[in-house]
Amino acid sequence: MRKKIVAGNWKMNMDLGEGVALATSINKQLITEPPDGKEVILCTPAIHLSIVGPLLNAPGLSTGAQNCNDHRSGAYTGEISAAMIKSTGASSVIIGHSERRSYYGEDDELLAAKTAEALYNGLRVIFCCGEVLAEREKNIHFDVVRRQLSKALFVLPREDFIRCIIAYEPVWAIGTGVTASPAQAQEMHFFIRSLVREKYGDETAEDTTILYGGSCKASNAAELFANPDVDGGLIGGASLVREEFLNIVKAL
Ligand code: 13P
Repeated sequence: MRKKIVAGNWKMNMDLGEGVALATSINKQLITEPPDGKEVILCTPAIHLSIVGPLLNAPGLSTGAQNCNDHRSGAYTGEISAAMIKSTGASSVIIGHSERRSYYGEDDELLAAKTAEALYNGLRVIFCCGEVLAEREKNIHFDVVRRQLSKALFVLPREDFIRCIIAYEPVWAIGTGVTASPAQAQEMHFFIRSLVREKYGDETAEDTTILYGGSCKASNAAELFANPDVDGGLIGGASLVREEFLNIVKAL
């Protein structure tokens, strides 16, 4: 069964006290009003995970990281391994966010290695893909997304792939206030699901969760989530505001 998920990507926001306050308050609300079989993941800064994780006990609520290293352990000063993330109780890790691709030069090969490492350590991967504006304008957005998925994700055997969630995040929609229209989101999500079908078959395609990310907020979440191939959202800015985020969860 395909899971419906809202994940908040806090990015590099919230000090520990602020993070604890926000997560605790979301947890409390989700105990009062459980998200009814849906999942909510808070992808906090890595340094918060071991404190925030144990505070959460609402049904379907867990923590995730925003990145991990591609090596198992060793002399990689300043880096955080997938095993360390897993040991905090986190369920998931975001891999391949466009900010990591563009600011930190993460390429398909590195992302494939990070994905393998995360899965090896029992984390679920929220794998991001999406085109920049110039690529959409040149009408090569489908090719870009196909390449991103083929190189880093479709190299996995089926039993590993099924522990991955795909997040389509058109880069031109991230933090800009410009959201993909519901039709643009559905078109790409349908395409992504058809790629999964080609590679892994019908059942896997139907079971794969595909999230939309990019200026998704309480006011547009319902119309995005109403599409048959949009299974939830990966939320940036709006995940930092309690009411906004909870209303997005409600919209799901
Ligand atoms: P915004 O919701 O702030 O546009 O960010 C989306 C995103 O990058 C989530 O990973």
